[in-house]
Amino acid sequence: MILKDIYGRSISYLRVSLTEKCNLKCGYCYGGPGNGGVLKPQLSDDALFKLIKAFSFMGIDKIRYTGGEPLLRERVADMIKETSKIESFKIIGLTTNGVLLGPRLDSLVGAGLNRLNISLDSLDRKTYAGITGKDCLGSILDAIDLALQYDVFGHIKINIVVMRGINHNEAPRFAEWALDKKIDLRFIEFMPGYKSGWGEELFVGEDEIKKRIGIKLDPLSIGESNSGPAKSFRYGDYPGRISFISAVSRGFCVNCNRLRLTSKGDLVGCLFDSKSVNLGAVVENSDSIEEIASVLKKIFAEQLYRKSPDVKIINGCEPSMRKIGG
Ligand code: 5AD
Repeated sequence: MILKDIYGRSISYLRVSLTEKCNLKCGYCYGGPGNGGVLKPQLSDDALFKLIKAFSFMGIDKIRYTGGEPLLRERVADMIKETSKIESFKIIGLTTNGVLLGPRLDSLVGAGLNRLNISLDSLDRKTYAGITGKDCLGSILDAIDLALQYDVFGHIKINIVVMRGINHNEAPRFAEWALDKKIDLRFIEFMPGYKSGWGEELFVGEDEIKKRIGIKLDPLSIGESNSGPAKSFRYGDYPGRISFISAVSRGFCVNCNRLRLTSKGDLVGCLFDSKSVNLGAVVENSDSIEEIASVLKKIFAEQLYRKSPDVKIINGCEPSMRKIGG
């Protein structure tokens, strides 16, 4: 079964935020007091699993665990193991800041993890500490080196949110660092978000980032690049890739193939719309996965907001990346 929204976009991908907690304090997530949201309890592992199983019934074949920092959720490796038993999930990914990653890699891969994204906004120790509040760049780079030894990940994705005056000068250095590794370097345009501190003066668009990198990038062919928001390039015969996620200057809604589930059970149909549907009651009221799936289908058809692919994303809605998981 393929789930399609009313605009004809196939939905095959679910992002699940496992916790709102994070062990770093980057400005774009923690830009001020009152991030709130503590009133609703987190869904239990069991409840979350019922939902995940029900989503697998709806044709979702890719799942990614995010946060906050997902490795702060106690049983994450067990959850990945459970997920890998659900046959429809071919792709099981994790987006992490890498702080706790190194020593956990063996167990995560053993459990069935096969995609890895790491957030890394600077290669300069002081800048990294300034952005994140933690002086731990060395251990993140060690974890990346270790992760590169696992073939199962294919290209490891490194996410950089580019901010003028903070890390925008580092684009060439990042490219040089990544190109000879099996890394897909993803420059992400800084998006307006809840208490993210976003402002025009901090924004750097894809065209400028490309110019700063200053090398001739060749687009990957359609078959080589995944559908999704990133546009990917290669440079000569280097194994690395360079990608751009340009929500602000280009928009990425046309290829939107995903739903998001927060740790509190809110199902989000569009990152740039505040509407969500809480699924807590749905799982509380039923143990039958088929039944839950049929309720989800109804919610998807009738209640879940999906923005039209050609509307501009910047519409005053400011998502909380910490809750929704980016
Ligand atoms: N703009 C772009 N990406 C963001 N992220 C969080 N906030 C923003 C924002 N305002 C994403 C990035 C980052 C991860 C923690 O969440 O991918 O690496």
